[in-house]
Amino acid sequence: MKIAILGTGGGARAHIAKLAELGHEVHVGTRNPKATLARTEPDMVGTPPFGPWLAEHPGVELHSFGHAAARGELIVSGIDGHNAVSALSAIAGQLAGKTLIDYAVPYLYNPDIEHPWPTPWGVMPTLDPCDSDSLAEQIQRALPDTKVVKAFVTQEQTTVVNPGAIGGGDHTMFIAGEHADAKQQALDLLKAYGWSDVLDLGPLVAARGMEMYAHMHSAIGFALGFGTHFGIKVVR
Ligand SMILES: NC(=O)c1ccc[n+]([C@@H]2O[C@H](COP(=O)([O-])OP(=O)(O)OC[C@H]3O[C@@H](n4cnc5c(N)ncnc54)[C@H](OP(=O)(O)O)[C@@H]3O)[C@@H](O)[C@H]2O)c1
Repeated sequence: MKIAILGTGGGARAHIAKLAELGHEVHVGTRNPKATLARTEPDMVGTPPFGPWLAEHPGVELHSFGHAAARGELIVSGIDGHNAVSALSAIAGQLAGKTLIDYAVPYLYNPDIEHPWPTPWGVMPTLDPCDSDSLAEQIQRALPDTKVVKAFVTQEQTTVVNPGAIGGGDHTMFIAGEHADAKQQALDLLKAYGWSDVLDLGPLVAARGMEMYAHMHSAIGFALGFGTHFGIKVVR
């Protein structure tokens, strides 16, 4: 299948590598391919530059966001949460009629807030939107001709594409969205990744809970200590 991954960050790279390994034709989207390939320094979270990483993944093609979306039959968006709506709106035509799985967290970095949450890497970003809206719903409203599914975001990026890496794979993946056929596509992808426990949370409004879980995920990570991998399981 032709799959477009919009984004070149760490989460995107996990999907790109796994999808290529599974035999899919992977088209990666970035703002400006030349500029992305010219980068030589890690980004602000320490992710190494994309060019050398891409060179180790032959067959994967790098395009602009629009060209990648045009080539993909299924779209996975890993565009930074704060910029996703504007970037995806700009390529609405190339996304029309397709399923888009969004896994971004709508983080607003370096917030000027009254009660900051100090973390080992600076102040915890705030979530915007939060509580009364979600990034996934914003994307769906901006792209009425695209079927948006929220997924992946409550598990670590390495676990998303390889659930068996921890706990024998016995943990839960959530999905939410308005379109049954689009959620089936997400489910098929998750099964191919190795997921056996996928809980459909229902309509896209449930993405509010999935995105807000980001803070709890961080809190658990701080408690367990840097480098400890973990997943979450709904026991029922
Ligand atoms: N388990 C999970 O589901 C999981 C795992 C990791 C991350 N996440 C979340 O998913 C999102 C992506 O994370 P990530 O680590 O893969 O990548 P990231 O480093 O957060 O985002 C990188 C992508 O966003 C694009 N971008 C940044 N600023 C932009 C702007 N102003 N306009 C348009 N595009 C812009 C970048 O474009 P260029 O390619 O042009 O630089 C790049 O492709 C984040 O919200 C993150 O919190 C979720």
